[in-house]
Amino acid sequence: MLFLCVAFCFLAAWFSVDCNPSPVLGDVVVDRYEIPKDCAREAKTGDYVRYHYNATFIDGKTLDSSYEKGAAKVGLIGEGRLIAGVDKGLQGMCVNERRKITIPPHLAYGSNGAGRCFWSLLDCWDVVPPDAALVFNIHLLDLWNKADLVVTKTISTPKDCKRSVMRTDFVRYHFNGTLLDGTSFDSR
Ligand SMILES: *[C@@H]1O[C@H](CO)[C@@H](O)[C@H](O)[C@H]1NC(C)=O
Ligand SMILES: *[C@@H]1O[C@H](CO)[C@@H](O)[C@H](O)[C@H]1NC(C)=O
Repeated sequence: MLFLCVAFCFLAAWFSVDCNPSPVLGDVVVDRYEIPKDCAREAKTGDYVRYHYNATFIDGKTLDSSYEKGAAKVGLIGEGRLIAGVDKGLQGMCVNERRKITIPPHLAYGSNGAGRCFWSLLDCWDVVPPDAALVFNIHLLDLWNKADLVVTKTISTPKDCKRSVMRTDFVRYHFNGTLLDGTSFDSR
């Protein structure tokens, strides 16, 4: 029995080189750890997104965070403006979803890494060392597209409606204004 097991393991190792693929060498690895029940639409190429993120190295050391910068990041998907791995990792994401994207170096800053200089080229240091894999924890707040139209949904209409709003009418109304993620921004 033990022999069979050892033999099987040996064969498995022999035939499948990909048996234990390292996320550091392959594609982005996406862990969708919080998916909202209502997902009207998923992020795709050509969409604009607004998201909060915490970026770390594989060992958990902090690289960067939108919270520290004081504002969520706005980006355009699939147009090469974001870090390649983030761009790929955002595909299919819902508003209010949280996911963890593990990005191999070649889809992040590659073998050059990324540096930052202070005043002169003589005072530079590595922000991202060469061949560093990165981990992005992302919370998607907003999603829109240039082709989007205004969407109206009637929740209730009174039975005796003799006249409806027309151009140049004056109106008085209550409203609740929320962002796409449900955060209220104004209410009267
Ligand atoms: C980022 O880290 C902060 C502090 O630990 C946490 O409150 C926040 O939920 C994290 N955001 C994401 C998108 O993981
Ligand atoms: C706005 O929200 C309040 C509190 O949830 C609710 O009572 C009210 O009916 C809402 N108004 C409209 C116009 O949806």
